Amino acid sequence: MSSLPQAVSRRRTFAIISHPDAGKTTLTEKLLLFGGAIQLAGAVKARGEQRRARSDWMKVERERGISVASSVMTFDYAGCTFNLLDTPGHEDFSEDTYRVLTAVDSAVMVIDAAKGIEEQTRKLFEVCRLRDVPIITFINKMDRETRDPFELMDEIEQTLALDVTPASWPIGMGREFLGCYDLWKDSLVLLSRTKGGLPDAGEPCSGIDDPMLDAQLPAHAVEKLRESVEMARALCPAFDPESYLAGHMTPVFFGSAVNNFGVRELLQGLADQAPPPRPQPTAQRAVDPCEETVSGVVFKIQANMDPKHRDRIAFVRLASGHFKRGMKLKHIRSGKQLTMHNPVMFLAQDREVAEEAFPGDIIGVPNHGNLRIGDALTEGEDLVFTGIPSFAPELLQKVRPTDPLKAKHLGRALTQLAEEGAARVFKPRIGADWIVGVVGALQFEVMADRIRTEYDVPVVFEPTSLYTARWLESDDPLALKKLLDGNAGAIADDHDGSPVFLARNAWHLDKAVDDHPKVRFLKTKG
Ligand code: G4P
Repeated sequence: MSSLPQAVSRRRTFAIISHPDAGKTTLTEKLLLFGGAIQLAGAVKARGEQRRARSDWMKVERERGISVASSVMTFDYAGCTFNLLDTPGHEDFSEDTYRVLTAVDSAVMVIDAAKGIEEQTRKLFEVCRLRDVPIITFINKMDRETRDPFELMDEIEQTLALDVTPASWPIGMGREFLGCYDLWKDSLVLLSRTKGGLPDAGEPCSGIDDPMLDAQLPAHAVEKLRESVEMARALCPAFDPESYLAGHMTPVFFGSAVNNFGVRELLQGLADQAPPPRPQPTAQRAVDPCEETVSGVVFKIQANMDPKHRDRIAFVRLASGHFKRGMKLKHIRSGKQLTMHNPVMFLAQDREVAEEAFPGDIIGVPNHGNLRIGDALTEGEDLVFTGIPSFAPELLQKVRPTDPLKAKHLGRALTQLAEEGAARVFKPRIGADWIVGVVGALQFEVMADRIRTEYDVPVVFEPTSLYTARWLESDDPLALKKLLDGNAGAIADDHDGSPVFLARNAWHLDKAVDDHPKVRFLKTKG
C-alpha cells in the first residue's frame, strides 16, 4: 500500500480528444495493451466497428450500454496508474463529453496525419482550453500517405493558437514509414511490421549525429531525418514543461496506433510529463489532493444501465484523501450520510468492487437517483465544487406522448433525465406541453429513444418557434414577481421548479431584459 502523496503523484487521469475516425478507439486499445489491462488486441476495436455499423442514435444507445465498463479504464505503466476517461464518440455536441473533460488533469489529442485538425477536435480542444488542460498531441496513421509534419505542426499552432514542439520525429511516411527518432530520449525506434506484438523499445543513441543511425537506416532517410530535426530545432520552441502544464504548449508524438507504433513513447511521455491530480476548486477553498479527509464530486450520471432495474451509477472523481470501501460520506446537498458499500472501480472490461481509491481515481456509486451532477461527497465538510459546467440549451423542442394518457409518466421520465443531466426540461406555466432544451440535435433522438425504452412512453418531439431559455434570478422578489406575472405565456419551470423565461426571438428577450433591470437572465443554472 502506498502513502497518500505517493499515490497522488503516480496518478494520471486523462481523456483522448479526437475527430471520429482519427483512431481514438485503436489508440485506447493499444494503451490498454501496453498497460497490461487487456491481453488481446481487438477487444476495444470491436466497439469502433459496431459503432460505425449503426445509425447515429442507435450508435449512441449502444455506447450507453457498454459505456459503464469502458467509461473509465484503469491501467498501470511505468510506475504510474492511469485513468483513461472515455468521451462519447459521436459527432454531435454532448454535454456529457464536456463534463468528462472537467474531470481529467490532461488530454491526448489524436490527429489523423492526412487530415490535420478536424471540426470535432477543435471543439473539444476549446473545452480543454477553458480550463487550460495540458495536451499531448499524437499524430496518427503515419503508415499512410500523410501531410508534411511541419505543415501539420504549423496547422496546430495556427488553428489552436498553441506553441508546438516535436517530441519525436517521423522517418518517412506511408509505405516508407520506418519509425521515429525519439527527441526526448535520443533513441531510434523502428517500426516492425509484425502484426500484434508489441514493438521493441527504442535503441538509445548519443544524438542525431550518432553513426548508429547510418548503420540502421538507408542513407537518404538519415539525411532527411537529420535535416528535418535540425530545422525543427531551429523553428520550434524547445519543450517547456511549465508552458505545457499551463496549457500553452503541446508536445507532438508521431505514430501509427494500428501498428502499435509510438504508443510506448506516448505513454512514457504521459508518465514523465502529464500532471498528477491538482487541487480542485470549490466555492469555499481549493481542495488539495493530499488532504487526509476524503472528498469527491459527481461529474457524470449513468442511469438505467439495465432497463429492468432503476439503478444509476454516479461517477465520482475523488478530489482528496484515501478512500476505502465501506466508509461513510456526507452527501452535501441533502445532508445525508451515505455508506459506500459497493462502489465500482473500472478495470478495462469489468466492473469491480473498489476496495480503495485515491485522488484522481473515479469510483462509481450505485444509487437510486439521489446523487446528481455537481454533488459533493465529503467526510463532513460542506464543500461545493465549482467548475462542472452547465450548458445553455440552444435548441428547444416540444415533447408529447403519443398516448395522451401517459402524460404523467412522461413528466416523471423527463424529470429523471433532467436530474441525470441528459437535457434541460421546462414545464410552461400555460399549456400541457413539456419543452426540452439541448445543446446538440442528436440529444433529442437519444432522449426519445430512452423515454421509449426505459420508461415505456413513446413520444414525439416537435419543433417550436422558441429562440432560447434564460433562468431568472433577482434579489428583489417583487421585481421577479412582476416579470412572472406580466409574462405568464413565456414562463416555465425547470425540473427543480426554478423559473425560466422562454424567448420567442432575440427582440423578445432583449425587451424583457430592458423592461426588468432588476432581474438576471442567466444562460445556465449554477
Ligand atoms: P475512432 O475511434 O477515432 O473513430 O477511430 P478508430 O480507432 O475506430 O479508427 C478508425 C479507422 O482508422 C479504423 O479503420 C482503424 O483501423 C484505422 N486506423 C487507426 N489507426 C491507424 C493507423 O495508425 N494507421 C492506419 N492505416 N489506420 C489506422 P477502419 O477501416 O474503419 O476499421 P478496420 O477495418 O481497419 O479495423
